[in-house]
Amino acid sequence: MKNISRIFVFVFLFGSYSILQATPSYQTAFVAAYPTVSATKLNGCATCHMPIVKDFLNSYGLAVKEKKLDFKSIEELDSDADGKSNIAEINAGTLPGSQASEPEHFVFTNPKGNVSFNHEMHVAGEAYISKGRCDLCHGEAGFTKFFNDTESIKDKAHVLCWKCHKDSGNPKAPQKCGDCHVK
Ligand code: HEC
Ligand code: HEC
Ligand code: HEC
Ligand code: HEC
Repeated sequence: MKNISRIFVFVFLFGSYSILQATPSYQTAFVAAYPTVSATKLNGCATCHMPIVKDFLNSYGLAVKEKKLDFKSIEELDSDADGKSNIAEINAGTLPGSQASEPEHFVFTNPKGNVSFNHEMHVAGEAYISKGRCDLCHGEAGFTKFFNDTESIKDKAHVLCWKCHKDSGNPKAPQKCGDCHVK
């Protein structure tokens, strides 16, 4: 606890000077609280961020922020609503703040055939049009900023994903049912 409060004071004092100095402290504090994660993917930015853009904390990162690094106080929460508590996920080495098994790679399971969606490439890929513009997908009638495989996004997806793929004129953007829905 001593270490954590010292880090917190450090972040408090110097956080505004440098992003680079401020942010690894959160990760350091997290690993200090849960030493068993040090050699796993949880020892990385994606435990709390998605994607790695300023201000975009995932549901676990938001809880960490709200509780000011008091990791214990959020252990019994299920930040990503996947039915497993944060501490159960940390012990199992899965992301407590996202239902995705790999950061920014979503698989929407459904009877028609699972649809995979590479969020990272859709945000940052040269050929993917949006180039960092979140509003194209997360605008008013768009998707929530919360990957939730237990709720169907069919109605939005068949408009937003499909329309962009058609309009793009890019043959690599799937337009046939079986190109998105893979059995
Ligand atoms: C244990 C959780 C956790 C981990 C791991 C983590 N961060 Fe953060 N990060 C936070 C929180 C919480 C904030 C929000 C700070 C605020 O708004 O007060 C933040 C803020 C930031 C910011 C915004 C800077 C600022 O001062 O507002 C950047 C950029 C950032 N993190 C990058 C990273 C990078 C890069 C990594 C991996 C090397 C990382 N973070 C790992 C929790 C984490
Ligand atoms: C091409 C479409 C698209 C673009 C562009 C896009 N997103 Fe998303 N994003 C999605 C979809 C789809 C989901 C999942 C929604 C669901 O399951 O209901 C999602 C989920 C998320 C999540 C939740 C992650 C998780 O693991 O739970 C965050 C955070 C997010 N987006 C942030 C952003 C930010 C920030 C940007 C811009 C830098 C952005 N998105 C751009 C389509 C997009
Ligand atoms: C651009 C990609 C894309 C294309 C093309 C596409 N779909 Fe979908 N479809 C989706 C996504 C994403 C979902 C939402 C999946 C989820 O939420 O689990 C979905 C959901 C569905 C569902 C609901 C499944 C369920 O019960 O949850 C059906 C049925 C469906 N699509 C049929 C079709 C048919 C038929 C076609 C072709 C005429 C088609 N889709 C083409 C992406 C696509
Ligand atoms: C803003 C435009 C845009 C939106 C919205 C969009 N896509 Fe795409 N998508 C593209 C483009 C462009 C490509 C082809 C990129 C290339 O040249 O490789 C692509 C490629 C893909 C591919 C094949 C390559 C890969 O990344 O695996 C899949 C699958 C896919 N999109 C699924 C989706 C789903 C599902 C959604 C909605 C949740 C969606 N896309 C929304 C523009 C978009």
